[in-house]
Amino acid sequence: MSMDAARTSKALGGLHVECYGEVTSTQDVARAMRVQPPYLVCASEQSAGKGRLGRRWRSDKGGLYFTLVLQRQKQDWAVPLLSAYALWTQLSSKVSSLEMKWPNDLYAEEKKLAGVMVEGWDARLAIGVGLNVNQLSFEGDLASSAVSLRMLAGAEFDLEVLLISIVSGMLKVMDEFAEHGFRFFQSSIRRVLLEADQPVKVLRANRICEGSLLDLGPSGEALIQSSEGELFTVPAQHLLEAG
Ligand code: BTN
Repeated sequence: MSMDAARTSKALGGLHVECYGEVTSTQDVARAMRVQPPYLVCASEQSAGKGRLGRRWRSDKGGLYFTLVLQRQKQDWAVPLLSAYALWTQLSSKVSSLEMKWPNDLYAEEKKLAGVMVEGWDARLAIGVGLNVNQLSFEGDLASSAVSLRMLAGAEFDLEVLLISIVSGMLKVMDEFAEHGFRFFQSSIRRVLLEADQPVKVLRANRICEGSLLDLGPSGEALIQSSEGELFTVPAQHLLEAG
């Protein structure tokens, strides 16, 4: 079933939803919209899908591509982590050995299943999610680095059902976050994150230091072991990506 805005909106309690066949990027469409957050933009394909750090996000038919726009809130640094965690909780029952990689990617069998990017536009925060769902294979450099739910589970998934469950999970997490702060999620996120190796880079005394994330505290303090074996703590917002 293709995604339908009216049905999705109804299932999400009247959230403003727009669904498109093909767009350049749901981030661009969402940014140009002049409605009050929260709202959701999804598309079946993107001709210029964006990834983090200026990368491209291949967005052929069969994947799930959406942007959820929220009102900015305190402790914004935690939103990428919380978004990936919400995605993990919705998908972990469908895929065995699903791993959350710092700060906001999902991997299975050492291949990337989903990516999240968060952009801030004035008072708005846009959470962009790309999830490989029904693709049967990937070409080029993605052939060895990407995987889809269908390739992992051996079954086709209904994109609209998946969209509704993921977005409703994200909205719930963000509501709880607004009410209770990061502390409320720290032990659950810590447990999921620490199940996998977490290589990170951190800016320390003006140089980039490589290491691994060993622990995450209730205020987002990250315990790092540098590749030289030194232990130190930094606020999670100072961690850079691994790759
Ligand atoms: C990453 O680099 O891992 C993040 C990828 C995020 C891709 C999604 S797809 C929906 C939204 N629109 C975009 O152009 N990018 C995000």
